[in-house]
Amino acid sequence: MTDNRTAASNYDEGVGVARDYYDSEEADSFYSAIWGGEDIHVGLYDGKTDIAVASRRTVDRMAGKLGDISGKSVVDLGAGYGGAARVLAGEYGAHVTCINLSSVENERNRALTKEAGLGDRIKIVGGSFDNMIFDDSSFDIAWSQDAILHAPDRLAVLDEVARVLKPGGELIFTDPMQADGLEDREALQPIYDRIHLPDLASFGFYDEALGKRGFEKIEVEKLTDQLGNHYARVREELAERAAEEGIDAAFRDRMLAGLKHWVDGAAAGRLAWGIMHYRKRS
Ligand SMILES: C[S@@+](CC[C@H](N)C(=O)[O-])C[C@H]1O[C@@H](n2cnc3c(N)ncnc32)[C@H](O)[C@@H]1O
Repeated sequence: MTDNRTAASNYDEGVGVARDYYDSEEADSFYSAIWGGEDIHVGLYDGKTDIAVASRRTVDRMAGKLGDISGKSVVDLGAGYGGAARVLAGEYGAHVTCINLSSVENERNRALTKEAGLGDRIKIVGGSFDNMIFDDSSFDIAWSQDAILHAPDRLAVLDEVARVLKPGGELIFTDPMQADGLEDREALQPIYDRIHLPDLASFGFYDEALGKRGFEKIEVEKLTDQLGNHYARVREELAERAAEEGIDAAFRDRMLAGLKHWVDGAAAGRLAWGIMHYRKRS
């Protein structure tokens, strides 16, 4: 097999792993019942905040950085159940296009969006965010929450963001990352194994890659403590509610162990998380 073909098959495997995981019944019931209902991203906590409330705070904190987005076009990369899309469309007046690999999540997103009466403002497209069907310069804003970590080729995702954004368009995103200059990478191996990828991105990785693609930094808000808070809170909720939500004990135990790696990695300063906001130069 040539190097290119090896790269292609690693790529397909990487994207397939994310799709199969998010499409699985176990993951779907875990995320929809425990994580926060409509959201699958890190929340903002002060004490024992309800996960759904904390998750919604992240959406509002990000939206607040964008100013008035009424009438603007937003693409949400890796949109999950579309919780953020419904807030951006329903409360901030944007037109949102969700792109997501998981057909199970897309179906739930369609049902929730219809229920919310937002079908005319939200479009849901199945596909991978590193190879999007959208024309060049289609969107005012690219939005993504905790999804790009799953991309086998994160630079390809940024290439696509640079392509589909209009000149002057803004990218705002969060991503669970590793700390810049991390020395004991092997301590994160259980997390790499979980996402079937060799590493996570970092603040420095995104800053350099976006600079090379013609973006200027507006603001990076580092909130790594919230990553630890969030995973600890999800663990607590899962341990308490798995049985009543009908979550299989073996899945619960695997998940509790997996979540602990994130809690420990954040406490040890090996992980990073925050809100990154950039503008594509005109
Ligand atoms: C942790 S969830 C976040 C979902 C959503 N952004 C939210 O905050 O609720 C990660 C999401 O990324 C999606 N995803 C992973 N790889 C993807 C890819 N290559 N293209 C599009 N979506 C992808 C998954 O299907 C999942 O919905």
